[in-house]
Amino acid sequence: MPPLLQVVNVKKSFLKPSIFSHKKNTIIKNVSFDLKQGECLGIIGESGSGKSTLGKLILGLEKPDSGKIYFSGQDINKRAWKKAAVRKNISAVFQDYNSSVNPYFNVGQIIAEPLDIYEKLSKEERQHRINALLEQVGLDHSFYERFPHEMSGGQLQRVCIARAIACSPQFILFDEAVSSLDISVQSQILTLLADLQKQLNLTSIFITHDLTTITYLCDKVAFFYQGEIVEYVDKIEQLSQVKNPYSKLLLESILGF
Ligand SMILES: Nc1ncnc2c1ncn2[C@@H]1O[C@H](COP(=O)(O)OP(=O)(O)OP(=O)(O)O)[C@@H](O)[C@H]1O
Ligand SMILES: [Mg+2]
Repeated sequence: MPPLLQVVNVKKSFLKPSIFSHKKNTIIKNVSFDLKQGECLGIIGESGSGKSTLGKLILGLEKPDSGKIYFSGQDINKRAWKKAAVRKNISAVFQDYNSSVNPYFNVGQIIAEPLDIYEKLSKEERQHRINALLEQVGLDHSFYERFPHEMSGGQLQRVCIARAIACSPQFILFDEAVSSLDISVQSQILTLLADLQKQLNLTSIFITHDLTTITYLCDKVAFFYQGEIVEYVDKIEQLSQVKNPYSKLLLESILGF
């Protein structure tokens, strides 16, 4: 079976933020990797190394300067893909749950956003689907009418996860999705994500600073440093055998070996 996601020699630069120069900063240098259906890749690296930029390239929010990204064998930067209904197969959950929802929408409306775009459901079907999604993320039906300011961070992130899985996507990108939650809520959300991954046979990428999150959820790990994958660990069990000095340092600092 061909990989679900293929990233091939992707490069991305941005103009330096100066009115006096037109020089570019290369943020993503030459990144390639494949991901098969059902796999979960963790991407770890320091702040500013380009992880979120790579995420945005994969979601099609940014366009690579060169290189290609294929989803189910289709180039996501081709016009045909941008219009295709198959785009609903790609979804995302970001760190900042507050700014990723409309504060004037209630939970039902937030979760229904992708459903309203990609699936034409009757009023009853829509309501039924939203309630089922609430249950899937561990919230009871009473949350349907609540607004974002009436919920805790953990509850709102659950709503964002419900929205992300609403159209049964094949692939979800999580960019620091648990980082701003406190430790006990983080572990609840991680348990939920691990369950959903199994239930839905999701393919996912988990961008994080936190290696323990990766060891909990991921099958593979890419160590990202200054816009490059400096080490790719194909089997999470082999994590302690990393060779690159940067990955070693990161492991030592976090796990103490
Ligand atoms: N649209 C943009 N225009 C110009 N520069 C950008 C843009 N997006 C990102 N950058 C720059 O690219 C670099 C990498 O940013 P990115 O957000 O990808 O890092 P990151 O690894 O996700 O960091 P963090 O762990 O802090 O989230 C930063 O220097 C950032 O300023
Ligand atoms: Mg980031």
